[in-house]
Amino acid sequence: MSAAIGFGKDLIGLEHLTAEQIRTILDVAEPFKEVSERAIKKVPALRGKTIVNLFFEPSTRTRVSFEFAEKRLSADTVNIAAMGSSVVKGETLVDTARNLEAMRIDMVVIRHSSSGAARFLAERIPSNVINAGDGQHEHPTQALLDLLTVRDRLGRIEGVRVCIAGDILHSRVARSNIWGLLKLGAEVAVCGPPTLVPPGIHELGVCVFRRLEEAIEWADVLNVLRLQLERMEAGYIPSLREYNRHFGITSARLGRAPRDILILHPGPMNRGVEIDSDVADGPHSVILHQVTNGVAVRMAVLYLLAGGAPERAEAAKRGTGDES
Ligand code: CP
Repeated sequence: MSAAIGFGKDLIGLEHLTAEQIRTILDVAEPFKEVSERAIKKVPALRGKTIVNLFFEPSTRTRVSFEFAEKRLSADTVNIAAMGSSVVKGETLVDTARNLEAMRIDMVVIRHSSSGAARFLAERIPSNVINAGDGQHEHPTQALLDLLTVRDRLGRIEGVRVCIAGDILHSRVARSNIWGLLKLGAEVAVCGPPTLVPPGIHELGVCVFRRLEEAIEWADVLNVLRLQLERMEAGYIPSLREYNRHFGITSARLGRAPRDILILHPGPMNRGVEIDSDVADGPHSVILHQVTNGVAVRMAVLYLLAGGAPERAEAAKRGTGDES
């Protein structure tokens, strides 16, 4: 990222970012929020840059959000999905990327089912690489938009009690959130069935609740994770009904909370499994606010990676030509 704030060339995860770097991304996202509210949603900050969105796993929010962010910054974009590309003929990830580079690209946004794929690529190509979710490792822009949403709604992150609830074991969102929240001074807990909470997770500095009722009593924010049904063949839970009965976020459970709890969910949701519809659509839910913030956060990441100075983000938003 921008040399001005000491980032490297890529955004692979939040584990190795400092609190100052994370705060800078959130601060740069602030002026970019307004661009999406205009009739003409475009500023010239990334004019002339070419960005490839390489999605080897399904995605709705992240893929579309990156594409909107790129287009709103005036970058030229190309979307590549595994299906329909030469990956299905056996081409490797690096060969795919090198062929794209031969056409002179500047950045790659990658989602991949293998943990470590983003770093693997970043070490082999000169373009900036942004991790849009790699296996069970990290999903940094999701955590950044979650942080921005908590900061918007509660006015701070430091000292806020955030419980990440559900399938922690398979979740790259959980890992990125834990790193980001702890660095910014939040108190962090996780809650889920023992089979879906990695042993030793407390060593990261989080506490573990076994019962959702305890977590609800403690938390200011619940970040509810999707039960990753596609990864559940190994029988981590007895049944979806059983899961909902013990770990589903219901309005009855939230009604017993000692305070209003902010409800986040990265999506896609399994309604009636990890979260009931009246909670997902209810007054404490900020799920769509998260999605809106996703575009601004991704604009900030792209702008900084392209060498934009944090203090010029306001000018970049105005499109005055004084943004670099
Ligand atoms: N939150 C998230 O990563 O959603 P998608 O899988 O739809 O991108």
